[in-house]
Amino acid sequence: MDRFHIVGPNRLKGTVQASGAKNAALPALAASLLTDEPLYLDRVPQVRDIRTLRRLLEHLGVGSKQNGSVLELAPAGEASLDEAPYDLVKTMRASVLVLGPLLARRGHARVSLPGGCAIGVRPIDQHLAGLEALGAKVRLEHGYVEVQSRRLTGSRFRFAMPTVTGTENVLMAAVLAQGTTILENCAREPEVVDLARLLSSMGAQIEGAGNETIEIQGVDRLGSARHTIIADRIEGGTYLTAAALTGGDVVLEGANPADLAPLLEKLVENGAEVSETAQGIRVARTGALKPRDLLTSPHPGFPTDLQAQYMVLMTQAEGKSTICETVFENRFQHAPELMRMGADIQIDTSYARISGPAPLSGAHVMATDLRASACLVLAGLVAQGETVVQRIYHLDRGYEGMELKLQALGARVERVS
Ligand code: UD1
Repeated sequence: MDRFHIVGPNRLKGTVQASGAKNAALPALAASLLTDEPLYLDRVPQVRDIRTLRRLLEHLGVGSKQNGSVLELAPAGEASLDEAPYDLVKTMRASVLVLGPLLARRGHARVSLPGGCAIGVRPIDQHLAGLEALGAKVRLEHGYVEVQSRRLTGSRFRFAMPTVTGTENVLMAAVLAQGTTILENCAREPEVVDLARLLSSMGAQIEGAGNETIEIQGVDRLGSARHTIIADRIEGGTYLTAAALTGGDVVLEGANPADLAPLLEKLVENGAEVSETAQGIRVARTGALKPRDLLTSPHPGFPTDLQAQYMVLMTQAEGKSTICETVFENRFQHAPELMRMGADIQIDTSYARISGPAPLSGAHVMATDLRASACLVLAGLVAQGETVVQRIYHLDRGYEGMELKLQALGARVERVS
């Protein structure tokens, strides 16, 4: 199993290119199930979750090949199976994104229930309620969810909470339903908007993506499209947080500042210098880090996927801060590892109270999930001495060449197999 060896402290300096967004690429790949014609997706990140979904799509009759920066997806062989087996779904919850497209296109899908995961229970009840509203029959049996319908019918549906993949799943089903669908209380994340853009290029009729209400006029078929995936705001945000953390000076190229606004506003409050240059977004810090309280919430709030990285930053701020996690119920698993490195953190259910600055010292730490791994790498960058982050396979699910990007910014980090 691979691990990272990091020798700190480091000061990051230089330019880093944002990769394509994993969370936008995943639904875009799943959308290939909605058509018989090829899809050409540019800037799909080369990360493990994408490889997992490509394997699942192949199993479902969609082949994919990488041509330079473009991933081409097209029907391959007989599109016979409508089933996403446990072995493929268990490693990646987002496999559930094939449910909506399979149902809409083939009238049937059977997908293993994703079950629990490290950061909470994460049910898919809203995905299923949305599909039911479009006329699907839903059955749960033997750990699988089975959905079935001859032709879906447009309907009005209100999500009980904004769910990102739930909105994407129901949206992908509704584009081929008969008539008009109105979805309320939708997730407004940039990745949902990117999916809607792709679907529209394929011929779908969608209005309002990025707002709470999305209206879809069903069409009979979708066709080929070319699409460039948006930049990964979480990956980019991780490097910008690292710049502020290490007292560095980093320019992030190719990202959309608007998508990163909740983080950039915080970093300014924390005392970092943030500017938009011709090259990209620049974050630098020379003065002291100021503590600020943080509340995670659905977009346009502060993303839960950057909470763990922000916690490391607050361990180095001069004073006390509080982080309240409102999206997932169990997303402080990085905190005990940070405490082993010397951080002063108290956890009380969904609140973390952090006192800084606490000098961190290098240690052997264990990654528990994707963003927690990024947090531990950031901690290693400012800690004195050597930090070994184990179970880097979590990190490889969502960060493209992280050690290479950090090395280019001057960090002493190495992947050891
Ligand atoms: C997506 C992202 C993930 C991010 C999360 C929140 C992808 C592939 N993953 O995950 O990186 O952390 O959004 O921004 O895009 N919920 C229910 N019932 C449902 C669906 C969700 O109760 O049917 C709850 C969840 O348990 C959670 C909240 O709603 O508490 C938000 O989850 P959701 O937006 O669905 O997260 P994902 O789409 O799984």
